[in-house]
Amino acid sequence: MIKKAVIPAAGLGTRFLPATKAQPKEMLPIIDTPAIQYVVQECVDSGIEDILIISGKGKRSLEDHFDKNFELETRLQEKEEEALYTHLKHIENLANIHFIRQKELNGLGDAIYHARFHCGQEPFAVLLGDSLIDSAIPVTQQLLDSYEQYGYTVIAVETVPWENVSRYGIVDGDNLSTRVMQLTRLIEKPSRKQAPSNMAIAGRYILTPQIFKALEKTPRGKGDEIQLTDALQILLKEEGIIATLIEGKRYDIGNKMDFLKTTVEFALKRKEFAGEFEDFLRETINRLDEDRKEH
Ligand code: G1P
Repeated sequence: MIKKAVIPAAGLGTRFLPATKAQPKEMLPIIDTPAIQYVVQECVDSGIEDILIISGKGKRSLEDHFDKNFELETRLQEKEEEALYTHLKHIENLANIHFIRQKELNGLGDAIYHARFHCGQEPFAVLLGDSLIDSAIPVTQQLLDSYEQYGYTVIAVETVPWENVSRYGIVDGDNLSTRVMQLTRLIEKPSRKQAPSNMAIAGRYILTPQIFKALEKTPRGKGDEIQLTDALQILLKEEGIIATLIEGKRYDIGNKMDFLKTTVEFALKRKEFAGEFEDFLRETINRLDEDRKEH
């Protein structure tokens, strides 16, 4: 049984400056919900309630978000705002969340290495906050099911357009079934020429504790950082790695364009907005088309 999850959240969020100058990128909301809350919810929906967030300088609001806000709750109760009150109670009771700080930003691999004392000899899930995944079965649960079956490291992958391979960790391997591969190679952000496939690591992993030994042996890689993908390549030689093709739609919220697209899609899915927002989008597009025709 896997009981623990690790969410790295120490990054500077430079792609979203100036919004992230004084607040963590993980707190940027998709409509009204901070990105990190979706990720914590995915853990909980997959049966994992012990969560370690690797945080860093300027990230205190992450702790506050999952804490009790007594004053606010009292105010909401007085005003008989039952729904909001219940929602806040839900967030503070969502999971058992721990925090540790990554003092220097040395890459994703180094962030995960900070979890070694918390996770000890247990396998654990890793969820990167830059990806939100909408699926009938939470993707972490999909990986847990594969882990049950194979018993060693499992990572989520998805097919990406060839022109985007240099944004991701890319894998190569042999098919065990239509959705499962035994990996033979992992490479972090290769050029299109170097990429052995267009199967990208999709920000969800089940790692065995052997990853910590592999991380100790991992030299600095892409961007002069300790890359988790490089550590996995070391681990691959020792115990094998399974990749599972995700069943669901992944939203990459790590860049502005995709963040915007995610916000629009999530809004269209919300009952309270759907009709009016859809009309607004159509009208806006029609108006733009008309304007273009006139000029
Ligand atoms: C990280 C990983 C990469 C993975 C990606 C998924 O990169 O290093 O292997 O494909 O997340 O979002 P980052 O986007 O943090 O640079």
